Amino acid sequence: MAFKVTDKVTWVGKVDWMLKKFHGEEYSTHKGSSYNSFLIQDKKTVLIDTVWQPFAKEFVAELKKVIDLDKIDYIVANHGEIDHSGALPELMKHIPDTPIYCTANGVRSLKGHYHEDWNFVTVKTGDVLDLGESKQTFVEARMLHWPDTMFTYMSGDNILFSNDGFGQHYATDPLYNDLADQDELFHECIKYYANILTPFSTFVTKKIEEVLGFNLPLNMICPSHGVIWRDNPAQIVEKYLEWANNYQENQVTIIFDSMWNGTRRMAEYIGEGIREADRDVSIKIFNAGIKDKNDILTEVFKSKAILVGAPTINKGITYAAIGILEMIKGLSFKNKKAAAFGTYGWSGESPKIINEELAKAGFEIVSEPIKELWNPNEEALLRCKDFGKEFAEKIK
Ligand code: FEO
Repeated sequence: MAFKVTDKVTWVGKVDWMLKKFHGEEYSTHKGSSYNSFLIQDKKTVLIDTVWQPFAKEFVAELKKVIDLDKIDYIVANHGEIDHSGALPELMKHIPDTPIYCTANGVRSLKGHYHEDWNFVTVKTGDVLDLGESKQTFVEARMLHWPDTMFTYMSGDNILFSNDGFGQHYATDPLYNDLADQDELFHECIKYYANILTPFSTFVTKKIEEVLGFNLPLNMICPSHGVIWRDNPAQIVEKYLEWANNYQENQVTIIFDSMWNGTRRMAEYIGEGIREADRDVSIKIFNAGIKDKNDILTEVFKSKAILVGAPTINKGITYAAIGILEMIKGLSFKNKKAAAFGTYGWSGESPKIINEELAKAGFEIVSEPIKELWNPNEEALLRCKDFGKEFAEKIK
């Protein structure tokens, strides 16, 4: 499959409808994904990015239907990660001397992945590749989301090839923002931002301000995953500015793990207490052992406060609870409040451990942890409810 985006630009990527997990097991892709590669045919011809390695042979075979590979003058690798560079080894077997334009860090990552000494051309912000009628201008986009990432701006058609930035793991057809299901699209956008870009929000804001400062006309944003933003591309830029600015909604997320339902009951009664104290706040309760971890993280991103609970096991906490706490810590959320809870039978360390993990993750701890012995009785459940009420007052 290939399709014309403009007279000069052809999409030559891969829509991966079957993808369920990305980055190993780290990211769930309920709606698949796409690896967008673009062929620009001007006086000179350039290929921007490729596709994930399992589709390498297919990619090259399909590309041959669009162009004689020997006519590709340049390759631009905006980012070295395998989902975009994975077809390079297969492609370079056919055109081994074709120059590959990328950042200095891009050379490091591509050499590190493929151990090939290809004809790399190192570029930095402001460098230009002249294709004849149009020009490709490179803009380093360090930490969006890797140190090697760059954007490429095409004059004439006024397209920003933004690689992972402004993308989504979303398989849809046609790959245009205005023709996609808007609820699905924006859900995948915020999930992608929350799970991938949150730690780099400062870089997001700075880079967007820098690019806006160039005052370049912008007809489209072509990311390397998901839809092409051709209808009002500024809308996703505005969303990014909003999300990068310590985004939160009036929401509390309660995450728990439970062995015999005691911690689940604590979670639910804490939720009841919050509801009694605040009729407007949105409350979401998830079992970390069951609910998709990336969907939980998306809800944490949207929350102004979270509570995390788990029973004590072997003087520690459960696998699911420590797993989600580790992921929460990695995303460096800002300006969010938290508290911990849990049941125990013997030693009772879990709420304290959770509390420490939340503090390490940068959350403001607003309540001392609450723990209940064995299966909470009515008295204990009322304590949980009161705990929820007090928590709600503290986060108002
Ligand atoms: Fe950072 Fe889509 O790869």
